[in-house]
Amino acid sequence: MLLKLILMGSGWVGFTDTRHGMVAITFFAFFMQVLVDASSWWSLALNPLLIPEVYIIGAQPLCSQLDGLSKGQKKLCQLYQDHMQYIGEGAKTGIRECQYQFRHRRWNCSTVDNSSVFGHVMQIGSRETAFTYAISAAAVMNVVSRACREGELSSCGCSRAARPKDLPRDWMWGGCGDDVNYGYRFSKEFVDAREREKSFAKGSMESARLMMNLHNNEAGRRTISDLAHVSCKCHGVSGSCSLKTCWIQLADFRKVGDALKEKYNSAATMKLNSRGKLVQLHSKFNPPTSHDLVYIDPSPDYCVENKTTGSLGTQGRLCNKTSEGMDGCALMCCGRGYDQYKAQLVERCHCKFHWCCYVKCKRCAHIVDQFVCK
Ligand SMILES: *[C@@H]1O[C@H](CO)[C@@H](O)[C@H](O)[C@H]1NC(C)=O
Ligand SMILES: *[C@@H]1O[C@H](CO)[C@@H](O)[C@H](O)[C@H]1NC(C)=O
Ligand SMILES: *[C@@H]1O[C@H](CO)[C@@H](O)[C@H](O)[C@H]1NC(C)=O
Ligand SMILES: *[C@@H]1O[C@H](CO)[C@@H](O)[C@H](O)[C@H]1NC(C)=O
Repeated sequence: MLLKLILMGSGWVGFTDTRHGMVAITFFAFFMQVLVDASSWWSLALNPLLIPEVYIIGAQPLCSQLDGLSKGQKKLCQLYQDHMQYIGEGAKTGIRECQYQFRHRRWNCSTVDNSSVFGHVMQIGSRETAFTYAISAAAVMNVVSRACREGELSSCGCSRAARPKDLPRDWMWGGCGDDVNYGYRFSKEFVDAREREKSFAKGSMESARLMMNLHNNEAGRRTISDLAHVSCKCHGVSGSCSLKTCWIQLADFRKVGDALKEKYNSAATMKLNSRGKLVQLHSKFNPPTSHDLVYIDPSPDYCVENKTTGSLGTQGRLCNKTSEGMDGCALMCCGRGYDQYKAQLVERCHCKFHWCCYVKCKRCAHIVDQFVCK
């Protein structure tokens, strides 16, 4: 991929690429690559090299040392070295949120090793894979937009978003907002680079997977955009709020996780049509938009450990004896039954407020029943 940088008059940098000029070659090399290291920029989440001080201007060899970056991503790393720790942070935020959202599910978004992060499970174009792509692309957009506002990055700053039309006329627009546009562009450029560098024969399963990944990356970013909102602060004499300053602000990332989990639940099953495009398998439903998640493969069996699919199985997972949901022992343990243990739970208790101003608590231990899948 050739990168062309356009320096805008205002001092920020925009991106375009000339991928359409790319010719399909080295098909087999790419074929192996997509199966083996589908998304390993995620490994930046675990990379100890990501300390800001290490990114000294001109320290280019560092980018080539980072594991998991594709060719285009290495190039971006060199151009935007100060962004790299935020990409690592974004990957971490994405993984953490994924594990929170899936804590009661058979597949719990566990990371298995540090090179491919999610392991073999990502080789399957499942709903779960769709979710991880979306949340990581979203997380990168999220941290980069924030870092811009905080003045941490040299190529962006406060948001330049236009004043919303419906903002009351006497409210001021122009506090320093998250640079959502820049975050969007950077996430698109960086996260999508790996997919856009590849090229597969039209109509191949690999090309379907590539389109699926790009679609879900975009859905993640759109979810961030959709949840960004206007935030305002009051000024004026003694809190009269006669004057308001407003700016654009990203939603709390938990909200993004919640929204993407909803989209995971209603994700659309896709297939390739005769012209090599991804289309919905069941045409009676509304077709997915660029804000929705899509997938092409059924999920592997997450009940039992399977080295081929990368499933860890649910043996040893905690379950809830009384719940009839996914976290209940019946579903979580896939009918294998469960073992019961007594466990000691230590909690803060008898908390007292002391004047002024702290709270002092005791630690109370009590015994609880725990249920663990066989
Ligand atoms: C992956 O983790 C293992 C054990 O935690 C460690 O020995 C190894 O060096 C790590 N590999 C990379 C590439 O970070
Ligand atoms: C693992 O999954 C593969 C693919 O679904 C299946 O063919 C195989 O039988 C499974 N192996 C075990 C041990 O369950
Ligand atoms: C997820 O499940 C696996 C397999 O049962 C378990 O080893 C791991 O600790 C769990 N991870 C989290 C974050 O709960
Ligand atoms: C177990 O599930 C029940 C019913 O859904 C719920 O009320 C209870 O709080 C859950 N227990 C734990 C320990 O999560």
